[in-house]
Amino acid sequence: MRPEPAEAIGLRVDGRSIAVAPGTTVAAALWSAGIFSCRTSLSGEPRGPVCGMGICFECRVTVDGVPHQRACLLPCAQGMVVETGLASASPGRTAAALGAAAVTPPGAAATPPGPAAPAFLGTAAVPGVGRAVAAGEALSAAATIRTDVAVVGAGPAGLAAACRAAEAGASVVMLDEAPAPGGQVWRRPTRLARAWSERFAASGARFLARATVIDALPGAVALAPPPASAANAAAPGATLLVDHAGRGLRVEARRLVIATGARERFLPFPGWTLPNAVGVGGAQALLKSGAAVSGRRVVIAGSGPLLLPVAAALARAGARIALVAEQAPARAVARFAAGLWRHPRLLAQAVRYRAAFWRAPYRCGVWVSAACGDGPTPEVREATLTDGRRSWRERCDLLACAFGLVPNLRLARLLGCATCGSGGRRVVRVDGLQETSVPGVYCAGEPTGIGGLELALLTGQIAGIAAASAARAAGAGEVAGAAGTATAGGAAAASRAAAASRAAGASRAAGAAPPARELASLQRRRDRRRGYAAALDRAFQPRSELQGLAAAETFVCRCEDVPLGRLDPAWSPRQAKLFTRAGMGPCQGRVCGPALELLRGWDEPDTVRAPLEPVPLAILASLGAEEASTSGAAPAPTPPAEVCS
Ligand SMILES: Cc1cc2nc3c(=O)[nH]c(=O)nc-3n(C[C@H](O)[C@H](O)[C@H](O)COP(=O)(O)OP(=O)(O)OC[C@H]3O[C@@H](n4cnc5c(N)ncnc54)[C@H](O)[C@@H]3O)c2cc1C
Ligand code: FES
Repeated sequence: MRPEPAEAIGLRVDGRSIAVAPGTTVAAALWSAGIFSCRTSLSGEPRGPVCGMGICFECRVTVDGVPHQRACLLPCAQGMVVETGLASASPGRTAAALGAAAVTPPGAAATPPGPAAPAFLGTAAVPGVGRAVAAGEALSAAATIRTDVAVVGAGPAGLAAACRAAEAGASVVMLDEAPAPGGQVWRRPTRLARAWSERFAASGARFLARATVIDALPGAVALAPPPASAANAAAPGATLLVDHAGRGLRVEARRLVIATGARERFLPFPGWTLPNAVGVGGAQALLKSGAAVSGRRVVIAGSGPLLLPVAAALARAGARIALVAEQAPARAVARFAAGLWRHPRLLAQAVRYRAAFWRAPYRCGVWVSAACGDGPTPEVREATLTDGRRSWRERCDLLACAFGLVPNLRLARLLGCATCGSGGRRVVRVDGLQETSVPGVYCAGEPTGIGGLELALLTGQIAGIAAASAARAAGAGEVAGAAGTATAGGAAAASRAAAASRAAGASRAAGAAPPARELASLQRRRDRRRGYAAALDRAFQPRSELQGLAAAETFVCRCEDVPLGRLDPAWSPRQAKLFTRAGMGPCQGRVCGPALELLRGWDEPDTVRAPLEPVPLAILASLGAEEASTSGAAPAPTPPAEVCS
């Protein structure tokens, strides 16, 4: 349902006024207005959103005078002023783009070009940045939160873990860098998402939106001294340092659940840096966050089951799907599909998705080899496809391309959690209760293996139950309340207790053992699901031909504009960093890392260093200042905004 014009949010982009539906992100607003470029790269190329989920940093814009804001993570707010840094660089683009845009005089109401992102857990309507949203209450600004269980990631795995831990009587704080919970798959509420949303609201767990974990240490305080206490330093669990929408925040948790999901694997080919070439999940993320795609001719190319829901969603939103190209050979896909009889719900879902774009061809053993634009605008106008024997061109004005998913392991590796496998198949090693090799640190969802929504929910539940039980056994339940410290106590504790007795039974809330029979059942279902994950992995491995797509002059590291030809195959990843800065830009190798694993056989370096994401120096300073202010010293002055990575 389209919102009334009166609900539209007005913002200014490069001096022009546009109007969007509430809940639309800045990236989606720019897209809907026909503006696909956000920034200029080091070598002067226009660049636009790729991942749609905060990974690639290609969507950086200046918002209300603050530079380096990721447009894909930022909801539009009334009166916001956005500067792309491209306005003067590319007048052709601007003129052409604004011709297609819903341009209105400042302050005038207009029909928003895209659909509204609906409210989910009450956060989609957050007008500005950085509002912490608890289930039913607001969290006051605080230097430190101490909690029984912290959950990083608010996708299905994180939500399930938080619900189960809170229902078992633990105080729980769930953090996510996104403006709303739901992760990648629940950007719009389904029936299942609503059920978990309601369960979360009733559980008493708390949610911090726009909370990016930048550093973590098992059981002790990272980056900023001094340690919270000697006892904490020795105990299992973890301390997280968080960029909470521009403020430093420390979260000390008796037990930690890592549920940081996965990201797409992008592989370089000539033209992949053009502004209208995005990830497959990236296109979906932009669509779900309000971007208008009606009438666009789209080529989708890549690998894995994700191609289907994305093609279906784009088709339902009015896009014209020209081709869906799956790089895996037809026989591998057929074998995978034949095995789906064990998962009839997934099979039915796949059929439904295919029906939504039935007019368009879905071709296996086909991949993209190049993209190019034409005319005065830099966007993709044509994609070259190949099946290895012949190549042909497809006209398109949106190319969605990515080659499957890779687990997001950075936080787990920073904490020293052991992994197994290699390259894109590397996962966090966990035991039957989802506990990692680091005592008190649990892991759930995609970092433990790419296996879909149901596996994420199952592993999240197991991790939540186990983490809460261990926290209780360690004497949790009491939440410290030091000076300047927000605790997960008070009203939250009351609602938690009520929820616990409702949802989990009074005996569990009172500290009884975890429900062994239920836990065993969850574990059995999880183990069955792992069979599906293994089949997925076998069927959609990237073919060897993809290693030859990039030419010597094709940029592999998009942040630092490093072409493939500069990366000597004899180097180690560390040498490549030292000699070329490849992997040292704001995305910290999250885009070029998996690509170079495939192209050069470079596995991610063993060490992941803090900060996990670029962080304004002001935040590091504010952590120190908050420390000082709790001990009575004057707060340090705020330094100018800078990005350190
Ligand atoms: C781009 C993309 C699109 C997808 N689309 C679909 C789809 O349409 N249908 C489908 O069935 N499956 C889809 N999947 C797969 C789906 O995400 C999984 O099947 C499963 O639901 C993953 O759940 P999760 O909780 O493990 O991870 P996610 O849902 O990915 O949640 C992880 C969360 O962790 C947060 N996070 C990561 N690092 C940090 C940090 N340092 N600090 C704070 N927060 C952090 C992220 O913001 C994210 O919200 C998609 C996956 C991706 C990557
Ligand atoms: S599109 Fe925003 S960070 Fe990738």
